[in-house]
Amino acid sequence: MAKRVFIKTYGCQMNVYDSARMADVLAPLGFVAADDAADADMVVLNTCHIREKAAEKIYSELGRLRRLKEERRRAGVEFLIAVAGCVAQAEGEEMLRRAPFVDIVCGPQAYHRLPALVARARATPGQGVVDTDFPADSKFDFLPESHAPQGVAAFLSVQEGCDKFCTFCVVPYTRGAEASRPVVAVIDEARRMVARGAREITLLGQNVNAYRGEGPDGSRWGLGRLIGGLAEIDGLLRLRYTTSHPRDMDDDLIAAHRNVAALMPFLHLPVQSGSDTVLERMNRRHAADDYRRLVDRLRAARPDLALSSDFIVGFPGESDADFDATLRLVADIGYAQAFSFKYSPRPGTPAAEMAAQVPEQVKAERLARLQSLLRGQQDDFNRACVGRVMPILFDRPGRRAGQSLGRSPFLQPVHVDDPTIELGDLRPVRIRAAQPNSLAGTVVSAAVVAERVPA
Ligand code: 5AD
Ligand code: SF4
Repeated sequence: MAKRVFIKTYGCQMNVYDSARMADVLAPLGFVAADDAADADMVVLNTCHIREKAAEKIYSELGRLRRLKEERRRAGVEFLIAVAGCVAQAEGEEMLRRAPFVDIVCGPQAYHRLPALVARARATPGQGVVDTDFPADSKFDFLPESHAPQGVAAFLSVQEGCDKFCTFCVVPYTRGAEASRPVVAVIDEARRMVARGAREITLLGQNVNAYRGEGPDGSRWGLGRLIGGLAEIDGLLRLRYTTSHPRDMDDDLIAAHRNVAALMPFLHLPVQSGSDTVLERMNRRHAADDYRRLVDRLRAARPDLALSSDFIVGFPGESDADFDATLRLVADIGYAQAFSFKYSPRPGTPAAEMAAQVPEQVKAERLARLQSLLRGQQDDFNRACVGRVMPILFDRPGRRAGQSLGRSPFLQPVHVDDPTIELGDLRPVRIRAAQPNSLAGTVVSAAVVAERVPA
Protein backbone atom coordinates (compact mmCIF):
# COMPACT_ATOMS: atom_id res chain seq x y z
CA MET A 1 0.00 0.00 0.00
CA ALA A 2 1.19 3.51 -0.75
CA LYS A 3 2.67 5.45 2.12
CA ARG A 4 1.69 9.04 2.60
CA VAL A 5 4.00 11.97 3.28
CA PHE A 6 2.93 15.40 4.48
CA ILE A 7 5.46 18.14 3.74
CA LYS A 8 4.88 21.38 5.60
CA THR A 9 6.74 24.35 4.14
CA TYR A 10 7.85 27.44 6.01
CA GLY A 11 9.56 30.56 4.69
CA CYS A 12 10.69 31.47 1.24
CA GLN A 13 9.92 30.32 -2.29
CA MET A 14 13.16 28.39 -2.34
CA ASN A 15 11.63 26.18 0.33
CA VAL A 16 8.47 25.79 -1.76
CA TYR A 17 10.66 24.54 -4.60
CA ASP A 18 12.69 22.31 -2.26
CA SER A 19 9.52 20.77 -0.83
CA ALA A 20 8.34 19.84 -4.31
CA ARG A 21 11.70 18.23 -5.01
CA MET A 22 11.61 16.33 -1.71
CA ALA A 23 8.25 14.93 -2.78
CA ASP A 24 9.91 13.82 -6.06
CA VAL A 25 12.79 12.20 -4.15
CA LEU A 26 10.42 10.32 -1.84
CA ALA A 27 8.05 9.18 -4.63
CA PRO A 28 10.19 6.15 -5.65
CA LEU A 29 9.95 4.93 -2.05
CA GLY A 30 6.19 4.72 -2.50
CA PHE A 31 5.30 7.97 -0.77
CA VAL A 32 2.36 9.93 -2.15
CA ALA A 33 1.30 13.35 -0.89
CA ALA A 34 -0.94 13.66 2.16
CA ASP A 35 -2.90 16.83 2.91
CA ASP A 36 -2.42 16.68 6.62
CA ALA A 37 -0.08 15.26 9.26
CA ALA A 38 -2.99 13.31 10.74
CA ASP A 39 -3.30 11.05 7.70
CA ALA A 40 0.39 10.75 6.90
CA ASP A 41 2.98 8.05 7.56
CA MET A 42 5.79 10.55 7.35
CA VAL A 43 5.91 14.26 8.07
CA VAL A 44 8.61 16.59 6.78
CA LEU A 45 8.88 20.07 8.24
CA ASN A 46 10.77 22.17 5.70
CA THR A 47 11.88 24.98 7.94
CA CYS A 48 13.04 28.59 7.73
CA HIS A 49 15.52 30.26 10.05
CA ILE A 50 15.53 33.81 8.76
CA ARG A 51 13.85 35.51 11.69
CA GLU A 52 13.34 35.08 15.40
CA LYS A 53 11.50 32.27 17.09
CA ALA A 54 11.73 30.13 13.95
CA ALA A 55 13.37 27.29 15.85
CA GLU A 56 10.98 27.62 18.81
CA LYS A 57 7.98 27.38 16.47
CA ILE A 58 9.42 24.21 15.00
CA TYR A 59 9.95 22.68 18.45
CA SER A 60 6.34 23.35 19.41
CA GLU A 61 5.13 21.87 16.11
CA LEU A 62 7.33 18.87 16.87
CA GLY A 63 5.62 18.56 20.26
CA ARG A 64 2.31 18.05 18.45
CA LEU A 65 3.84 15.53 16.07
CA ARG A 66 5.31 13.61 18.99
CA ARG A 67 1.80 12.88 20.31
CA LEU A 68 0.75 11.71 16.85
CA LYS A 69 3.78 9.47 16.66
CA GLU A 70 3.03 7.93 20.05
CA GLU A 71 -0.54 7.15 18.98
CA ARG A 72 0.75 5.48 15.83
CA ARG A 73 3.35 3.53 17.71
CA ARG A 74 0.66 2.17 20.04
CA ALA A 75 -1.22 1.04 16.95
CA GLY A 76 1.98 -0.54 15.62
CA VAL A 77 2.15 1.83 12.63
CA GLU A 78 5.25 3.57 11.30
CA PHE A 79 5.38 7.36 11.60
CA LEU A 80 8.56 9.13 10.55
CA ILE A 81 9.33 12.70 11.51
CA ALA A 82 11.88 14.58 9.42
CA VAL A 83 13.04 18.15 9.86
CA ALA A 84 14.57 19.72 6.76
CA GLY A 85 15.56 23.23 5.71
CA CYS A 86 17.47 25.94 7.48
CA VAL A 87 16.47 25.24 11.09
CA ALA A 88 17.63 21.64 10.57
CA GLN A 89 20.91 22.95 9.22
CA ALA A 90 21.37 25.39 12.09
CA GLU A 91 20.36 23.00 14.88
CA GLY A 92 21.90 19.76 13.57
CA GLU A 93 22.56 17.25 16.40
CA GLU A 94 21.08 19.68 18.91
CA MET A 95 17.69 18.94 17.40
CA LEU A 96 17.95 15.26 18.38
CA ARG A 97 18.91 16.22 21.91
CA ARG A 98 15.90 18.48 22.30
CA ALA A 99 13.50 16.31 20.31
CA PRO A 100 14.85 12.74 20.46
CA PHE A 101 11.70 11.39 18.80
CA VAL A 102 12.72 13.09 15.52
CA ASP A 103 13.86 10.47 12.99
CA ILE A 104 15.67 12.58 10.39
CA VAL A 105 17.40 15.96 10.46
CA CYS A 106 18.33 16.92 6.93
CA GLY A 107 19.92 20.19 5.77
CA PRO A 108 18.97 21.98 2.55
CA GLN A 109 22.00 20.60 0.72
CA ALA A 110 21.32 16.98 1.65
CA TYR A 111 17.71 16.23 0.75
CA HIS A 112 18.63 14.25 -2.35
CA ARG A 113 19.88 11.68 0.20
CA LEU A 114 16.47 11.39 1.88
CA PRO A 115 15.89 7.83 0.62
CA ALA A 116 19.10 6.67 2.34
CA LEU A 117 18.19 8.65 5.45
CA VAL A 118 14.75 7.03 5.55
CA ALA A 119 16.38 3.61 5.22
CA ARG A 120 18.80 4.36 8.06
CA ALA A 121 16.04 5.75 10.27
CA ARG A 122 13.99 2.59 9.69
CA ALA A 123 16.99 0.36 10.42
CA THR A 124 17.77 2.12 13.69
CA PRO A 125 14.43 3.20 15.14
CA GLY A 126 14.64 5.67 17.99
CA GLN A 127 18.18 6.74 17.10
CA GLY A 128 17.63 9.67 14.77
CA VAL A 129 19.90 10.40 11.80
CA VAL A 130 21.44 13.76 10.95
CA ASP A 131 22.75 14.88 7.58
CA THR A 132 23.76 18.53 7.45
CA ASP A 133 26.83 18.17 5.24
CA PHE A 134 27.54 20.51 2.41
CA PRO A 135 28.45 17.89 -0.19
CA ALA A 136 31.05 18.64 -2.82
CA ASP A 137 28.67 17.65 -5.62
CA SER A 138 25.49 19.49 -6.24
CA LYS A 139 22.31 17.81 -5.00
CA PHE A 140 20.75 18.85 -8.30
CA ASP A 141 22.76 16.16 -10.08
CA PHE A 142 21.01 13.55 -7.96
CA LEU A 143 17.43 14.75 -8.02
CA PRO A 144 15.02 12.72 -10.12
CA GLU A 145 13.02 14.33 -12.91
CA SER A 146 9.74 15.59 -11.62
CA HIS A 147 6.52 14.03 -12.87
CA ALA A 148 4.25 15.78 -10.41
CA PRO A 149 1.55 18.08 -11.77
CA GLN A 150 2.93 21.51 -12.55
CA GLY A 151 1.07 24.73 -11.93
CA VAL A 152 0.87 27.61 -14.40
CA ALA A 153 3.33 29.68 -12.36
CA ALA A 154 6.39 27.59 -11.50
CA PHE A 155 9.51 28.14 -9.43
CA LEU A 156 12.91 26.94 -10.58
CA SER A 157 16.04 27.03 -8.41
CA VAL A 158 19.05 28.14 -10.43
CA GLN A 159 21.38 29.28 -7.68
CA GLU A 160 21.82 28.58 -4.01
CA GLY A 161 23.78 29.93 -1.14
CA CYS A 162 25.26 33.34 -0.52
CA ASP A 163 28.78 34.70 -0.20
CA LYS A 164 27.75 38.21 0.81
CA PHE A 165 27.73 37.77 4.59
CA CYS A 166 25.42 40.64 5.45
CA THR A 167 26.04 40.90 9.17
CA PHE A 168 22.39 40.25 10.15
CA CYS A 169 21.79 37.20 7.99
CA VAL A 170 22.00 33.46 8.68
CA VAL A 171 21.76 32.41 5.04
CA PRO A 172 25.50 32.13 4.33
CA TYR A 173 25.69 29.73 7.29
CA THR A 174 22.58 27.66 6.60
CA ARG A 175 22.67 27.52 2.82
CA GLY A 176 26.40 27.63 2.29
CA ALA A 177 28.52 29.14 -0.45
CA GLU A 178 27.12 30.42 -3.72
CA ALA A 179 26.65 27.72 -6.31
CA SER A 180 24.95 27.93 -9.69
CA ARG A 181 23.38 25.15 -11.72
CA PRO A 182 24.69 24.65 -15.26
CA VAL A 183 22.79 26.46 -18.03
CA VAL A 184 21.73 23.28 -19.85
CA ALA A 185 20.32 21.74 -16.66
CA VAL A 186 18.26 24.87 -16.01
CA ILE A 187 16.98 25.13 -19.57
CA ASP A 188 16.08 21.42 -19.67
CA GLU A 189 14.17 21.68 -16.42
CA ALA A 190 12.38 24.81 -17.64
CA ARG A 191 11.36 23.01 -20.86
CA ARG A 192 9.96 20.11 -18.88
CA MET A 193 8.04 22.51 -16.65
CA VAL A 194 6.53 24.19 -19.72
CA ALA A 195 5.68 20.81 -21.25
CA ARG A 196 3.84 20.01 -18.00
CA GLY A 197 1.84 23.23 -18.06
CA ALA A 198 4.00 26.07 -16.70
CA ARG A 199 3.53 29.40 -18.48
CA GLU A 200 5.52 31.52 -16.07
CA ILE A 201 8.80 30.62 -14.37
CA THR A 202 10.36 32.44 -11.46
CA LEU A 203 14.08 31.75 -11.22
CA LEU A 204 15.09 31.33 -7.61
CA GLY A 205 18.28 31.83 -5.69
CA GLN A 206 19.23 33.25 -2.31
CA ASN A 207 21.25 35.68 -4.34
CA VAL A 208 19.94 34.84 -7.77
CA ASN A 209 21.64 37.60 -9.73
CA ALA A 210 25.01 36.28 -8.58
CA TYR A 211 24.21 33.40 -10.97
CA ARG A 212 27.33 32.20 -12.80
CA GLY A 213 26.35 28.93 -14.41
CA GLU A 214 28.52 26.88 -16.70
CA GLY A 215 27.31 27.41 -20.27
CA PRO A 216 27.22 24.77 -23.01
CA ASP A 217 30.45 26.24 -24.40
CA GLY A 218 32.22 25.99 -21.04
CA SER A 219 32.04 29.74 -20.39
CA ARG A 220 30.20 31.20 -17.40
CA TRP A 221 26.78 32.67 -18.08
CA GLY A 222 25.33 35.43 -15.95
CA LEU A 223 21.65 35.72 -15.16
CA GLY A 224 20.93 38.15 -18.02
CA ARG A 225 22.23 35.67 -20.57
CA LEU A 226 20.38 32.78 -18.91
CA ILE A 227 17.14 34.76 -19.09
CA GLY A 228 17.77 35.41 -22.79
CA GLY A 229 18.19 31.65 -23.33
CA LEU A 230 15.07 30.74 -21.37
CA ALA A 231 12.99 33.32 -23.23
CA GLU A 232 13.45 31.20 -26.39
CA ILE A 233 11.40 28.34 -24.96
CA ASP A 234 8.11 28.04 -26.86
CA GLY A 235 5.10 28.40 -24.64
CA LEU A 236 6.98 30.11 -21.82
CA LEU A 237 5.21 33.47 -21.56
CA ARG A 238 6.74 35.04 -18.50
CA LEU A 239 9.99 35.08 -16.56
CA ARG A 240 10.82 36.54 -13.18
CA TYR A 241 13.70 36.14 -10.75
CA THR A 242 14.17 36.60 -7.04
CA THR A 243 16.01 37.53 -4.76
CA SER A 244 18.67 39.91 -5.99
CA HIS A 245 21.47 41.87 -4.41
CA PRO A 246 22.07 45.41 -5.74
CA ARG A 247 25.79 44.68 -6.09
CA ASP A 248 25.18 41.84 -8.53
CA MET A 249 22.95 43.78 -10.94
CA ASP A 250 25.24 43.75 -13.98
CA ASP A 251 24.89 45.41 -17.41
CA ASP A 252 23.68 42.19 -19.07
CA LEU A 253 20.89 41.77 -16.58
CA ILE A 254 19.83 45.40 -16.90
CA ALA A 255 19.87 44.95 -20.68
CA ALA A 256 17.63 41.88 -20.31
CA HIS A 257 15.01 44.16 -18.75
CA ARG A 258 15.16 46.22 -21.94
CA ASN A 259 15.40 43.41 -24.49
CA VAL A 260 13.50 40.40 -23.18
CA ALA A 261 9.74 40.93 -23.49
CA ALA A 262 9.00 37.86 -21.36
CA LEU A 263 10.94 39.29 -18.43
CA MET A 264 8.26 40.92 -16.30
CA PRO A 265 8.62 44.57 -15.24
CA PHE A 266 8.63 43.82 -11.52
CA LEU A 267 11.80 43.47 -9.51
CA HIS A 268 12.37 42.58 -5.88
CA LEU A 269 15.60 44.38 -5.06
CA PRO A 270 16.20 44.51 -1.31
CA VAL A 271 18.01 47.56 0.03
CA GLN A 272 17.48 46.96 3.79
CA SER A 273 18.29 50.55 4.81
CA GLY A 274 18.70 54.03 3.34
CA SER A 275 21.50 55.05 5.71
CA ASP A 276 25.09 54.70 4.53
CA THR A 277 26.38 54.06 8.04
CA VAL A 278 23.85 51.30 8.62
CA LEU A 279 24.47 49.85 5.14
CA GLU A 280 28.15 49.75 5.95
CA ARG A 281 27.63 47.99 9.27
CA MET A 282 25.28 45.60 7.53
CA ASN A 283 28.16 44.86 5.14
CA ARG A 284 25.91 45.55 2.17
CA ARG A 285 28.87 47.01 0.29
CA HIS A 286 27.00 49.82 -1.42
CA ALA A 287 25.75 53.28 -0.47
CA ALA A 288 22.16 54.49 -0.65
CA ASP A 289 22.98 56.64 -3.69
CA ASP A 290 24.43 53.63 -5.52
CA TYR A 291 21.02 52.03 -5.13
CA ARG A 292 19.25 55.17 -6.39
CA ARG A 293 21.50 55.25 -9.46
CA LEU A 294 20.96 51.56 -10.08
CA VAL A 295 17.20 52.04 -10.01
CA ASP A 296 17.59 54.93 -12.47
CA ARG A 297 19.47 52.66 -14.85
CA LEU A 298 16.89 49.90 -14.50
CA ARG A 299 14.07 52.34 -15.15
CA ALA A 300 15.89 53.73 -18.17
CA ALA A 301 15.97 50.18 -19.52
CA ARG A 302 12.38 49.41 -18.57
CA PRO A 303 10.37 52.57 -17.85
CA ASP A 304 7.37 50.73 -16.39
CA LEU A 305 9.52 48.71 -13.96
CA ALA A 306 7.86 48.39 -10.54
CA LEU A 307 10.03 47.75 -7.52
CA SER A 308 9.79 45.81 -4.33
CA SER A 309 12.26 45.62 -1.47
CA ASP A 310 13.09 44.29 1.97
CA PHE A 311 13.83 46.63 4.87
CA ILE A 312 15.19 46.06 8.34
CA VAL A 313 14.46 48.65 11.01
CA GLY A 314 16.28 48.88 14.32
CA PHE A 315 19.55 47.40 13.13
CA PRO A 316 22.12 47.82 15.96
CA GLY A 317 23.15 51.47 16.25
CA GLU A 318 20.38 52.75 13.93
CA SER A 319 19.74 56.36 14.99
CA ASP A 320 16.70 58.52 14.25
CA ALA A 321 18.73 60.18 11.49
CA ASP A 322 19.58 56.77 10.00
CA PHE A 323 15.94 55.80 10.05
CA ASP A 324 14.96 59.10 8.42
CA ALA A 325 17.41 58.29 5.63
CA THR A 326 15.48 55.06 5.04
CA LEU A 327 12.21 56.99 4.83
CA ARG A 328 13.84 59.37 2.33
CA LEU A 329 15.06 56.52 0.18
CA VAL A 330 11.58 54.98 0.14
CA ALA A 331 10.09 58.35 -0.83
CA ASP A 332 12.66 58.74 -3.63
CA ILE A 333 12.24 55.28 -5.12
CA GLY A 334 8.50 54.71 -4.80
CA TYR A 335 7.77 51.04 -4.21
CA ALA A 336 4.91 48.99 -5.60
CA GLN A 337 5.24 46.56 -2.71
CA ALA A 338 7.70 45.80 0.08
CA PHE A 339 8.50 43.71 3.12
CA SER A 340 9.81 45.27 6.30
CA PHE A 341 11.03 43.66 9.48
CA LYS A 342 12.26 44.55 12.92
CA TYR A 343 15.88 43.57 13.25
CA SER A 344 16.12 40.23 15.02
CA PRO A 345 19.50 39.06 16.33
CA ARG A 346 20.39 35.71 14.83
CA PRO A 347 22.84 33.73 16.96
CA GLY A 348 26.20 33.31 15.25
CA THR A 349 25.87 36.40 13.02
CA PRO A 350 28.14 39.43 13.61
CA ALA A 351 25.30 41.93 14.16
CA ALA A 352 23.95 39.89 17.06
CA GLU A 353 27.16 40.76 18.95
CA MET A 354 27.09 44.47 18.10
CA ALA A 355 26.68 47.00 20.86
CA ALA A 356 23.78 49.48 20.80
CA GLN A 357 20.98 47.03 20.14
CA VAL A 358 17.87 49.12 19.54
CA PRO A 359 15.07 48.82 22.13
CA GLU A 360 12.02 46.84 21.07
CA GLN A 361 9.69 49.81 21.41
CA VAL A 362 11.81 51.98 19.10
CA LYS A 363 11.87 49.16 16.56
CA ALA A 364 8.10 48.84 16.75
CA GLU A 365 7.55 52.59 16.27
CA ARG A 366 9.92 52.75 13.30
CA LEU A 367 8.37 49.69 11.73
CA ALA A 368 4.90 51.22 12.01
CA ARG A 369 6.06 54.49 10.37
CA LEU A 370 7.90 52.71 7.58
CA GLN A 371 5.01 50.34 6.93
CA SER A 372 2.53 53.16 6.72
CA LEU A 373 4.69 54.94 4.14
CA LEU A 374 5.10 51.71 2.15
CA ARG A 375 1.39 50.90 2.48
CA GLY A 376 0.55 54.32 1.01
CA GLN A 377 2.89 53.73 -1.91
CA GLN A 378 1.40 50.31 -2.56
CA ASP A 379 -2.14 51.75 -2.46
CA ASP A 380 -1.13 54.51 -4.89
CA PHE A 381 0.44 51.99 -7.21
CA ASN A 382 -2.62 49.74 -7.16
CA ARG A 383 -5.02 52.66 -7.65
CA ALA A 384 -2.99 53.90 -10.62
CA CYS A 385 -3.74 50.56 -12.31
CA VAL A 386 -7.50 51.17 -12.31
CA GLY A 387 -8.73 51.82 -15.84
CA ARG A 388 -5.63 50.28 -17.45
CA VAL A 389 -5.71 47.17 -19.61
CA MET A 390 -3.07 44.67 -18.52
CA PRO A 391 -2.20 41.17 -19.68
CA ILE A 392 -3.21 38.80 -16.88
CA LEU A 393 -1.92 35.26 -16.63
CA PHE A 394 -4.53 33.10 -14.91
CA ASP A 395 -2.96 30.57 -12.60
CA ARG A 396 -5.59 29.64 -10.01
CA PRO A 397 -9.31 29.14 -9.67
CA GLY A 398 -10.97 31.87 -7.61
CA ARG A 399 -12.91 31.27 -4.43
CA ARG A 400 -16.29 31.57 -6.13
CA ALA A 401 -17.53 29.43 -9.02
CA GLY A 402 -16.77 31.14 -12.34
CA GLN A 403 -14.03 33.28 -10.78
CA SER A 404 -10.37 33.02 -11.71
CA LEU A 405 -7.28 34.47 -10.15
CA GLY A 406 -4.36 35.69 -12.20
CA ARG A 407 -1.28 37.84 -11.90
CA SER A 408 -0.53 41.16 -13.50
CA PRO A 409 2.94 41.82 -14.94
CA PHE A 410 3.63 43.51 -11.58
CA LEU A 411 2.70 40.38 -9.64
CA GLN A 412 -0.55 41.83 -8.30
CA PRO A 413 -3.25 39.18 -7.84
CA VAL A 414 -6.20 39.97 -10.13
CA HIS A 415 -9.70 38.54 -9.64
CA VAL A 416 -11.90 38.13 -12.69
CA ASP A 417 -15.43 36.70 -12.84
CA ASP A 418 -15.59 35.04 -16.22
CA PRO A 419 -16.42 31.37 -16.71
CA THR A 420 -14.68 31.27 -20.12
CA ILE A 421 -11.24 31.69 -18.52
CA GLU A 422 -9.05 28.62 -18.34
CA LEU A 423 -5.95 28.21 -16.23
CA GLY A 424 -2.91 29.15 -18.27
CA ASP A 425 -4.78 31.76 -20.32
CA LEU A 426 -3.09 35.11 -20.79
CA ARG A 427 -5.84 37.65 -21.38
CA PRO A 428 -6.10 41.41 -21.61
CA VAL A 429 -8.02 42.60 -18.58
CA ARG A 430 -9.33 46.06 -17.80
CA ILE A 431 -8.74 46.80 -14.13
CA ARG A 432 -11.94 48.04 -12.50
CA ALA A 433 -11.04 48.18 -8.81
CA ALA A 434 -8.06 48.16 -6.50
CA GLN A 435 -8.11 46.54 -3.08
CA PRO A 436 -5.16 46.75 -0.69
CA ASN A 437 -3.56 43.54 -1.89
CA SER A 438 -5.29 42.72 -5.12
CA LEU A 439 -7.11 44.06 -8.17
CA ALA A 440 -10.36 43.14 -9.87
CA GLY A 441 -11.08 43.43 -13.57
CA THR A 442 -12.92 42.30 -16.68
CA VAL A 443 -11.58 40.55 -19.76
CA VAL A 444 -11.74 43.00 -22.64
CA SER A 445 -11.44 40.55 -25.48
CA ALA A 446 -12.73 37.01 -25.57
CA ALA A 447 -9.77 35.92 -27.69
CA VAL A 448 -7.26 33.89 -25.76
CA VAL A 449 -3.89 35.51 -26.30
CA ALA A 450 -1.72 32.62 -27.31
CA GLU A 451 1.33 34.59 -28.27
CA ARG A 452 3.48 36.71 -26.04
CA VAL A 453 1.84 39.94 -24.99
CA PRO A 454 4.34 42.65 -24.23
CA ALA A 455 3.52 44.01 -20.80
N1 5AD B 1 16.39 40.39 11.23
C1 5AD B 1 15.39 40.95 10.51
N2 5AD B 1 15.19 40.73 9.21
C2 5AD B 1 16.05 39.90 8.58
N3 5AD B 1 16.13 39.50 7.32
C3 5AD B 1 17.17 38.65 7.20
N4 5AD B 1 17.78 38.51 8.38
C4 5AD B 1 17.12 39.28 9.26
C5 5AD B 1 17.28 39.56 10.63
N5 5AD B 1 18.27 39.02 11.34
C6 5AD B 1 15.24 39.98 6.27
C7 5AD B 1 16.04 40.79 5.23
C8 5AD B 1 16.07 39.87 4.05
C9 5AD B 1 14.75 39.13 4.21
C10 5AD B 1 14.64 37.85 3.46
O1 5AD B 1 14.66 38.90 5.60
O2 5AD B 1 15.33 41.98 4.94
O3 5AD B 1 16.17 40.54 2.81
FE1 SF4 C 1 21.53 37.20 3.54
FE2 SF4 C 1 22.76 39.34 2.53
FE3 SF4 C 1 23.09 36.95 1.38
FE4 SF4 C 1 20.73 38.20 1.19
S1 SF4 C 1 22.68 38.93 0.34
S2 SF4 C 1 21.07 36.02 1.68
S3 SF4 C 1 20.59 39.21 3.15
S4 SF4 C 1 23.76 37.51 3.42
